[in-house]
Formats: sequence, structure tokens, C-alpha cells
Amino acid sequence: MEGKVVLVTGGGRGIGAATSKLLASRGAKVVVNFAQNGDAANHVVKDITGSGGQAIALQADVRNDVQVSNMVSSILDIWGTVDALVNNANMSFAMKPIAEMTWDEFAQKLNDEMKAAFLMTKAVTPIMAAKHYGRIVYVASGLARRPTRRMSAHGSAKAALVQFARYVAEEYGSQGITANIISPGLVMTEATRFQPEENLKRIASLTPLGHVATPEDVAQAIAMYCSDGCQFVTGTYVPVNGGMSMD
Ligand SMILES: NC(=O)c1ccc[n+]([C@@H]2O[C@H](COP(=O)([O-])OP(=O)(O)OC[C@H]3O[C@@H](n4cnc5c(N)ncnc54)[C@H](OP(=O)(O)O)[C@@H]3O)[C@@H](O)[C@H]2O)c1
Repeated sequence: MEGKVVLVTGGGRGIGAATSKLLASRGAKVVVNFAQNGDAANHVVKDITGSGGQAIALQADVRNDVQVSNMVSSILDIWGTVDALVNNANMSFAMKPIAEMTWDEFAQKLNDEMKAAFLMTKAVTPIMAAKHYGRIVYVASGLARRPTRRMSAHGSAKAALVQFARYVAEEYGSQGITANIISPGLVMTEATRFQPEENLKRIASLTPLGHVATPEDVAQAIAMYCSDGCQFVTGTYVPVNGGMSMD
């Protein structure tokens, strides 16, 4: 990753923070994008620069085309290019049975997830295509394939993201851009703090590798698909769940 410019959406917390730090430790120049929590993003940047790495924090709501475009322009001004995009920012969603969900609640998650992926993809692909090199990793979820109670909005949005990523792989392959999908199971981040202890123990016991994923576990897989060497792998769906579900 030496010298590569990587943009991590939602890079200030959770999986995004772990990914930013790991990629920077491998020599990448990392853009830590955040929506509201500048303190968390700046903390990640400080960690990276304190260890001799290169990183900057940039605010943009990835659902907003003007903010996305301004962020990418700033990256071009500062570092001149974008080599890899980690489409990771976590869009909120209603967690309830379909019977209790309104269309607006369901549509909000679909719209946010897809608008973020669509805008980010459209913002970086011309830069990547111009040099015939690009790596895009979309962070989906195992719920895209395995329905779980109360998660229809999230799971349906992630399923749409998975298929969108394959279309990106298909349409941009001839321009040297790969697009792959990392699909975590449950990961210990702020987003999953609500999980009761018994549930975590149950998941660990059902996982061949024996523990609930850490953000670092997922970051390792993301980094692999961002790497130079991953040059002939595109359109793949990669479960990162310790073998809990081998889909
Ligand atoms: N945690 C899990 O169990 C799990 C499982 C499967 C898949 N995933 C997926 O993994 C990804 C990361 O999840 P996480 O658990 O690491 O999330 P998290 O800890 O809740 O962190 C969310 C990050 O997304 C950013 N964000 C939210 N809305 C944004 C927006 N509109 N524009 C830009 N950034 C925005 C936040 O920015 P601020 O800091 O500024 O708020 C924050 O940095 C998500 O796509 C999620 O669906 C997570």
C-alpha cells in the first residue's frame, strides 16, 4: 500500500477506524472521512501520524453530493489522486418487524445505503479510470444473505449494495478498477453495543474460529482487497465471520 491514497468513509470509528490504522501502517496515505464526530476522526489521524504514518480527516456526509464532491476535490488538492475507496460508513436503520415498519422507515435505509455507495463510486471512478488503477471495497453484511428477525431494512439495503458492487465490477473492470464486497457477521463496535452478553457468547460458540469479530478482523480482509496484489479479483463476496456461516 506504500504511497497509495485510500479514502475510508466512516473512518473515525469502528471498522473504519481499524481499517484506516491498518492501511496507514502499511504505508497508505489515509483519508479518514467522518459525518459528525470530528473528535473521533482526529483521534484516528493522531494515532496514525504519531506512529509515523500519513492521514487527514475530512468531513462529508456521504449521502450529500456537494459534500462528497468537495471532499474528493480536497483530496486531489492535498494528495493528487485516489487509489482506493473503502465504502464503509454505517447508515442508521429501523430495527423492527416488517409488520410494524412504515415504508418511510424502510425506504430511508435503502436510500441512504445506496445513495452513499452511488455518490462515492461516481466521485472516485473517473480519477481511477484516468490512470487505469483502482480498488473499491464495499462493506456489506451477512444479513444481505441470511434474514434475521427485525433486520429487513438493513438486510435488504445490504443485498442491494452487494448487487450494485457487482455491477461496478462489471462496468469498470475494463478501466482497471476492481470492486469487491466484504461481508462481516457481528462485529464488536459501538453499533452493536446493545447486544446482550448471552448473545455474544452464543455467537462465539457457533463460530468455528471461536470469537465474535473485532473491527481489526474485518480491517485485515478489507486491506487484502485494497492491496496491489489483489489485481485479478473482482466482483467477489467475502464473508468475514469466522466461519459462522459459510456462504
Ligand atoms: N458492527 C457490525 O456488527 C457490522 C456487521 C456487518 C456489517 N457492518 C457494516 O460495517 C460498516 C461499519 O460499521 P461499524 O459498526 O464500524 O459502524 P460504527 O462503529 O457505528 O461507525 C460508523 C461510522 O460511519 C460514519 N457515518 C455514519 N453516517 C455517515 C454519513 N452519512 N456520512 C459519512 N460517514 C457516516 C460515522 O461517522 P461519525 O463518527 O462522524 O458519526 C462513523 O465513523 C457499516 O457499513 C455496517 O453496516 C457492521
